[in-house]
Amino acid sequence: MADAPRSTVLVTGAGGRTGQIAYRKLKERSDRFVARGLVRTEESKEKIGGGDDVYVADIRDADRITPAVQGIDALIILTSAVPKMKPDFDPSKGGRPEFYYEDGSYPEQVDWIGQKNQIDAAKNAGVKHIVLVGSMGGTNPNHPLNSLGNGNILVWKRKAEQYLADSGIPYTIIRPGGLLDKEGGVRELIVGKDDELLQTDTKTIPRADVAEVCVQALQFEEAKFKAFDLASKPEGVGTLTKDFKALFSQITTRF
Ligand SMILES: NC(=O)c1ccc[n+]([C@@H]2O[C@H](COP(=O)([O-])OP(=O)(O)OC[C@H]3O[C@@H](n4cnc5c(N)ncnc54)[C@H](OP(=O)(O)O)[C@@H]3O)[C@@H](O)[C@H]2O)c1
Repeated sequence: MADAPRSTVLVTGAGGRTGQIAYRKLKERSDRFVARGLVRTEESKEKIGGGDDVYVADIRDADRITPAVQGIDALIILTSAVPKMKPDFDPSKGGRPEFYYEDGSYPEQVDWIGQKNQIDAAKNAGVKHIVLVGSMGGTNPNHPLNSLGNGNILVWKRKAEQYLADSGIPYTIIRPGGLLDKEGGVRELIVGKDDELLQTDTKTIPRADVAEVCVQALQFEEAKFKAFDLASKPEGVGTLTKDFKALFSQITTRF
């Protein structure tokens, strides 16, 4: 029997903390995937190996995205506005640090316009599946993350999620809880809806597990037209998640 054709997949935010892992996973599974990355700067390109499959583009500029999406089968969106800490914060004086977004890089420009640009470009290029990583917390407009740098980040992320769900393209919207820089593949993963997991003790997840779920979502019809919250049990508790088809099959929510 002939081998199944490989799927060409673009990861955006490929220089980011989760994006790097997703890009690497695709490259490691070269029997199934042809990996591409999109990063904002040449520095980020170098950081992830500087390969010819890494495109440098700012997602706020729709035209710049076009070359990266030509001929792709699937897109994984891992770009996000990144709040910066104000430099005058002195932890020795107590209190809380203050955050800001750089001019032009507010969530409205990155998490809304930037994501919308990617969805439009991918749609024009005939993409067959888009995986978008959003965030838990979006059901509450008064969530504290929205006041961070006056950016309303969860509001703009949610708007992009809705835009994707309305696009007609098969989609998977993943809304993780707090991200951890811990080992992936050693926990039981939990899916939920409507921020219900935020009321529990299990509301965090390693970035490596989020990246794995992004890649696994590309392989199962059960992941398509679904939106869900994602978290994990602590390592050593519960049963390690290995069957991703079963994980996606549990999800009944389209948004
Ligand atoms: N942190 C949490 O606890 C948490 C919780 C739930 C959900 N999430 C979401 O999960 C996702 C992954 O998070 P993460 O912490 O791994 O991401 P991250 O490290 O903050 O990466 C975000 C990436 O987006 C890129 N980016 C920003 N503006 C861009 C632009 N205009 N053009 C092109 N690229 C741009 C950044 O590039 P540069 O490196 O060049 O700036 C960066 O590589 C994000 O959507 C995040 O909001 C995070």
